[in-house]
Amino acid sequence: MSEAPPPNAPPDWRVTLQPDASSFAAPASVTVLQAALAAGIDWPSSCRNGTCRTCMGHILQGQVQYQIEWPGLSAEEKAEGYFLPCVACATSDLEVMLPW
Ligand code: FES
Repeated sequence: MSEAPPPNAPPDWRVTLQPDASSFAAPASVTVLQAALAAGIDWPSSCRNGTCRTCMGHILQGQVQYQIEWPGLSAEEKAEGYFLPCVACATSDLEVMLPW
């Protein structure tokens, strides 16, 4: 029997990866990269602090919130949907194009 989450627990969002449509749960309390690695996805990463851009993916749908003020993306890249999952937490379900 599974227990219901506590009433104030942050939600788990679902990240769907394209082009293969696989998906994993992304708790709002961890970064998208941490959630992907916990799900066994071999997502490329290096610095894990938002500077090297190794992990960069492309959001097709959904929203994230950054844990740092200035992730290593230009305003234009952000506007086009590029994101750095090592420093971004999901704030909705996401559809993401794989970076590799
Ligand atoms: S791992 Fe370096 S920016 Fe994400």
